[in-house]
Amino acid sequence: MNTFTENNKSAFQALEILCCEFVGNDAVTENIFAEKAMSLLGEIERFTEEDIDEKHEFGEGLSYAIPYVSKRMVALIMFMKPGACIDAHDHHGFAGVMRLIRGEVKVENFSLSDFGQVCESGEFNIVPGKITVVAEDECSAILSGDSNIHQVTAGENGAIFFDIYAMTEDRGRSDFFEVLREEADGRRTVKIKASVAIPE
Ligand SMILES: [Fe+2]
Repeated sequence: MNTFTENNKSAFQALEILCCEFVGNDAVTENIFAEKAMSLLGEIERFTEEDIDEKHEFGEGLSYAIPYVSKRMVALIMFMKPGACIDAHDHHGFAGVMRLIRGEVKVENFSLSDFGQVCESGEFNIVPGKITVVAEDECSAILSGDSNIHQVTAGENGAIFFDIYAMTEDRGRSDFFEVLREEADGRRTVKIKASVAIPE
């Protein structure tokens, strides 16, 4: 266990218990999970990029670290350079909560269009929905009831965010989309360019 994880042992243990309860107990709804997880994320000590070891590259201007992982929970810290973008992707088999540690991010949500069945070529359409800005110390939830596709762009000072994922299946994954065409109204024709398993 690294120093950061060790220093935050009690918060990680409480989050682990919460994730197990959420997955194993129907009475713990997504909203209850999100509210409690956001509160527990507030107990993680302040940190800077230098405090976190074992970072992995993840595309241009992006790197991440996994300070805690178990069967039912993954903690992920994402470091984003100014203007860096996490391409549109979805979430399968896990629910999550994000807390902005530094900077801010713009989150653009998309939904599948009504006529967006995947055709033989693997292309389908997604429609832009609400755009939110998550500022420093704010939290945001990624729940199955929401539009499940989103793109995340760091502000001009970059961003660091902390995600907690509860694994509702044995392991989650995100499909990342390549944009083939974009209409003036923001509707996009996309296809899956990569399926990324949630790291273990
Ligand atoms: Fe995401």
